[in-house]
Amino acid sequence: MEDGKPSQTALLVAMLRARHYMDEPEPKILRDSLAATLAGAPGEAHVHGYLDQIHTAFSGLSDAETATLFVRQLEHSVCIRQRLLEEELAIAKAAGATQLVVLGAGLDSTAYREFDLCDGLTVFEVDHPASQKWKQMRLVDSGVDIPDNVSYVPFDFENTTLADALEAGGVSRDEITVFSWMGVQMYLTDDAVKGTLAVMAGFPPGSFVVMDFIQPDYDTASKTEINSVEDLRKIVSKMSEPFKSQYSTQELAARFAKAGFSSSEFPTVGEFADRYLGGDKARLQMTPGAQYLAIGRV
Ligand SMILES: C[S@@+](CC[C@H](N)C(=O)[O-])C[C@H]1O[C@@H](n2cnc3c(N)ncnc32)[C@H](O)[C@@H]1O
Repeated sequence: MEDGKPSQTALLVAMLRARHYMDEPEPKILRDSLAATLAGAPGEAHVHGYLDQIHTAFSGLSDAETATLFVRQLEHSVCIRQRLLEEELAIAKAAGATQLVVLGAGLDSTAYREFDLCDGLTVFEVDHPASQKWKQMRLVDSGVDIPDNVSYVPFDFENTTLADALEAGGVSRDEITVFSWMGVQMYLTDDAVKGTLAVMAGFPPGSFVVMDFIQPDYDTASKTEINSVEDLRKIVSKMSEPFKSQYSTQELAARFAKAGFSSSEFPTVGEFADRYLGGDKARLQMTPGAQYLAIGRV
C-alpha cells in the first residue's frame, strides 16, 4: 500500500467481479451487482477497457493466449472465494453468528447488496485508512445506501494491533463471528498473518475465517500455475502492493493449528466446479486438485 493512495488491487478484483456479472454465461458463480458501481466504472466499456489493460500487462510477461487464461482464472478465483464466504455465512448465521468482520474489505459489496444474508448481523469493514476513505467516497458518489448495521474500522495490519482496532471499532469478542479475509494475506508479512490468526482464534467456538492464500506449492504445481503466480506477483508489485508472504496448504494448516484454531479445511477447485458449475471442471480452466481457499474454524 502506498501512503495516501487507495488499493489498486482492490480495484482490480472489483473489476473482475464486474466483468463476471456483466458477461459470464449462466450459471454465474457470483452476482456482484454493485462491483462496477463501486469500482467507479460508468459502463461496460469502462470495465472492458480496464481489463484489457490488465490483459496487456500479463501478455507482456508471457503471450496473449496465456494472458487470457490467467485473467479468466483470476476472475473465477475471486468470484469463487466470495461465493464460498456467502454460503458459509448463511450456515453460520443459522447457527448463531452475529458478526461479520471483513478484513481488508476493499470494494467488497456484501453488506450493500445481500440484505437478507446480512440481516441480524453487524458488519464491520476493516481496511487500510486510505482504501476505506476511498470506498466511503465511492459509496456516497454513487448513491449507494449504507445500511445501519455497517461499521468501519480503519486499520493497518503492519502498524497497529488488530485486537485493539477491533475493540475500538465495537467488535465484541464474545459473539460468534465470521471473518472474511479475501485477497489480503499475500500482501502481509508472516508476522502480520500470524498475529491476525491469533486474534481470530480468540473468538468463541463456532467462529471461523474464510480466506484465500497464495499457492503454488512448488513441489506439485504445474508450470502454468507457477507462472501465473509469478506473473501476478510482478503485476501487483507494479501496483505498489507486492506479495509479502506465501504458504503451501501444509504451512497454512500449521499456522492455523499454532494460532489455536480447532480445525482447518482446504476445498479444491474441483469441488467448486461441482458445487457452482454442475461439475463443469473445464469451465474453470484451473487444475481440479488445486487449493487456494481455506476455512479455519475456532
Ligand atoms: C486485493 S484487495 C482485496 C479487497 C477485498 N477483500 C476483495 O476481495 O474485494 C486487498 C485489500 O487489502 C488491504 N490491505 C493491504 N495491505 C493492508 C494493510 N497493511 N493494512 C490494511 N489493509 C491492507 C487493501 O486496502 C485492500 O483493500
